[in-house]
Amino acid sequence: MRRQKTVVITIDGPSQSGKSTVARLVAQALGFAHLETGAAYRAVAWAVLRKGADPRKGEAVVDAISGMEVALGPGWVLVNGEPASRRILGSREVEAAAPWVAAVPAVRKSLLPVFRKAIREAERVVVDGRDAGTVIWPWAQLKVFLTAGLEERAMRMVARRRTPSASSVEAALEDLKWRDRMDTRRRIGRLRPPPGGLVLDTGGRSPEDVAEAILQVWKGVLSGGGTHE
Ligand code: DC
Repeated sequence: MRRQKTVVITIDGPSQSGKSTVARLVAQALGFAHLETGAAYRAVAWAVLRKGADPRKGEAVVDAISGMEVALGPGWVLVNGEPASRRILGSREVEAAAPWVAAVPAVRKSLLPVFRKAIREAERVVVDGRDAGTVIWPWAQLKVFLTAGLEERAMRMVARRRTPSASSVEAALEDLKWRDRMDTRRRIGRLRPPPGGLVLDTGGRSPEDVAEAILQVWKGVLSGGGTHE
């Protein structure tokens, strides 16, 4: 019953495809909440690192998350009641560990109800991630999948890290190839366009432009043309 009144737009895509920025703009324009599911994976990675466990070892991760409670909301994430700061979640260490913990089925299984609870609580929400439209909320009224070429995503990564040099572009390319492999090859919740989703290439387009395109499609959904459910 609750699902019926919950209004959800999912935005999935690979690293540096522009998901978070576009999701924030769409949410602001519609007065919706914005949930970043990646923040929960980062928070788990942070907690695993803090326990001194090796995030690359599935069994160690499973041990480390035993009894761990994660809660997520718009702009915040708690691990055992303790807030994880943006600075910590954006650190290189956490960013490097997150793809490993996200590949552990027990982690994905334990976060699924956390995400669904957060969505129900938010009621009208833009959710971004990798499997938001395929696994987390396949009932979304609109499912978007953003793409962009590897080179452009590497340039975005470098710009974000503010260290532009040939070698950092090379490093970003390698990092992204690895992230793409981790995202697309895991057994559950792998990155793929949701059935019936809107696929948008963000290459050469500003986040504002992409957000506007999504808002146009959303108008069509609201007026009854092209709803998924
Ligand atoms: O979007 P992000 O960079 O904050 O995501 C952090 C990590 O979590 C990244 O390795 C991808 C993973 N992730 C995932 O597996 N499923 C999601 N729904 C969201 C993120």
